[in-house]
Parts: sequence; structure tokens; C-alpha cells
Amino acid sequence: MSGVNGVSGSQVSGSQVSGSQKSGGLRLVLLGAPASGKGTQGEKLARALGVPKVSTGDMLRAARDAGTELGKLADGIMAAGKLVPDDLVIRLVDERLSQADAAHGFILDGFPRTLPQARALDELLQRRGEGLNAAICIDLPRELLMERATLRRTDVRTGQIYHLKYNPPPDSAQLVHRDDDKEETVRKRLDAYDNMTAPLLPYYQAKNMLCHVDGVGSPSEVNARIDRVIGQLSSAVTTTSAAAAHSGAAVTKGGADGG
Ligand code: AP5
Repeated sequence: MSGVNGVSGSQVSGSQVSGSQKSGGLRLVLLGAPASGKGTQGEKLARALGVPKVSTGDMLRAARDAGTELGKLADGIMAAGKLVPDDLVIRLVDERLSQADAAHGFILDGFPRTLPQARALDELLQRRGEGLNAAICIDLPRELLMERATLRRTDVRTGQIYHLKYNPPPDSAQLVHRDDDKEETVRKRLDAYDNMTAPLLPYYQAKNMLCHVDGVGSPSEVNARIDRVIGQLSSAVTTTSAAAAHSGAAVTKGGADGG
């Protein structure tokens, strides 16, 4: 359920924010079931924060379209609504986060999706002396998830995501319907989310990093709720960084182990 302005779960506070040990922007994970709006909100957020949005789904689709070995392997798995093996996705993310544009923050969309992926992310960030700031979960009832997925269309030329009912594309758009957005496959993806990804919620809750955002409403309404969470995170990080600089101490990670 949602609280004030759609933000619920634990209060966002200094203790909830895990300040990154290196300076820079926010390092966030976007959680939520298939079609909950992670891509839509992740784009806006990445632009606003000046950090890259790293989507494993987009990377896997790009690999598939490029016909790489990874892409060929992922193609059948994705079309079946299943998850690509952890080790492949973890390697993909490790390489992507090593690129210069991710040095000062990122938005992870669709990763991690399993507990081993979440632990691997913690380890790879720890190796770099970094930490996550928060995991933001966009909540949406199953019937709306189904409608959002099955009526989604993407413009192949621009990558822009549309929705036939809520965000109709212009006549000029060259639309594709994702194979895995067919009703039967969406059901399987939702089941995979319940079985494999939902356990990440208690994982991040235990680290005091989880923020829930109500995903019902227009994209701009959801965006405003996320902005509110980000505003609280940013001011908490700034406060923590300033205090650490003042005392000469390194900024420490918050949460149970800081991730
Ligand atoms: P991925 O591409 O990550 O798919 P997903 O998580 O299922 O998420 P979606 O892209 O379906 O939805 P979204 O939440 O981004 O919603 P969107 O903003 O587009 O993964 C695809 C596959 O790749 C997986 O099934 C798996 O096989 C593999 N994979 C990926 N990552 C993996 C990993 N880490 N491990 C293993 N396998 C992995 O919005 C949906 C629609 O709703 C759009 O049409 C949009 O316009 C519309 N919309 C959005 N917000 C609103 C709103 N507020 N109101 C009305 N309409 C809205």
C-alpha cells in the first residue's frame, strides 16, 4: 500500500540511505514486476540525475538483435518468459558498470532479479568501494500489469516506448510488439517475478534500503512520487557526506551491511 504521496515502506531517512563510499550521484535499483513502469520511470530518472539507465532486458534484446552468442542463447529463454542464467547477466552488468559513464551513479532496471544476482551486485560494488543508495519498488496490481504489457509497443527507430491505450504512438512510429508481451508469456513472466524476484524485497528491506512507490496513475504522477523519494535520498546523502567531510571520516554505508 502507498503512504504519503505514494511513498510507503520504511521512512526514508539517513539511516535508510546507504551513502556511496566514492563521491558522485545516486546508485539505484528499480524493482517491480514486468511492465510496472521501470523502463518508463528509469529513463526520466536517468535524464534528471545525469546517470545512465542500465537495463538488462534492453542489453539482452540488443545482443539478440546483433546475433551474438549471448543473444542467441537469451532469445529462446526470453521468448519463453523465463530468466536468463545468473552468471551471464551478472557478467553483462559487471562489464557495463565498468564503463566511464557509470562511475558516478546509475539506475539499474531489471537487475538484480534473483538473490544470487543481488549478492553478486553487492560484491561487485564492494570491490569498487561503492554502495547502493536504495532499491525503489514500483507496485502495481496484476490486472494492470497485464494490460500495460500486452498493449505496449516500441518504436524500432527511436526505442521510445508507447502504450496503445495510455500513451498512443504518433502515426509516424514504426511499432514492434515484443514477443514476450503476448498474454500467455506475460503470465509466465509474472510467475517468474513472484517466484524469483519478489524475494528481493525482504532482502533489501533487511538492509533498510527498500522504498515502495505506488505505480497506479499517470507516468507523471508516478514520476512525482519517485522524485519525492529521490529528493529525500539526495538530501540524506548530502547531509551524510557533509558530516563525514566535516569529521574527516569516510562516508560509511548505511543499512544492515550497506550492500
Ligand atoms: P525486461 O526487459 O527487464 O522486462 P521486465 O522487467 O519484464 O520489464 P518490462 O520491460 O516488461 O516493463 P517495465 O517495468 O520496464 O515497464 P515499461 O516502463 O516498459 O526483461 C525481459 C526479459 O529479459 C526477462 O523476461 C528475462 O528473460 C530477461 N532478463 C532481463 N533481465 C534479466 C535478469 N536480470 N536476469 C535474468 N533474465 C533477465 O511500461 C510498460 C507499459 O506501460 C508501456 O507501454 C508504458 O508506456 C506503459 N506505462 C508505463 N507507465 C505507465 C503509467 N504510469 N500509466 C500508464 N501506462 C504506463
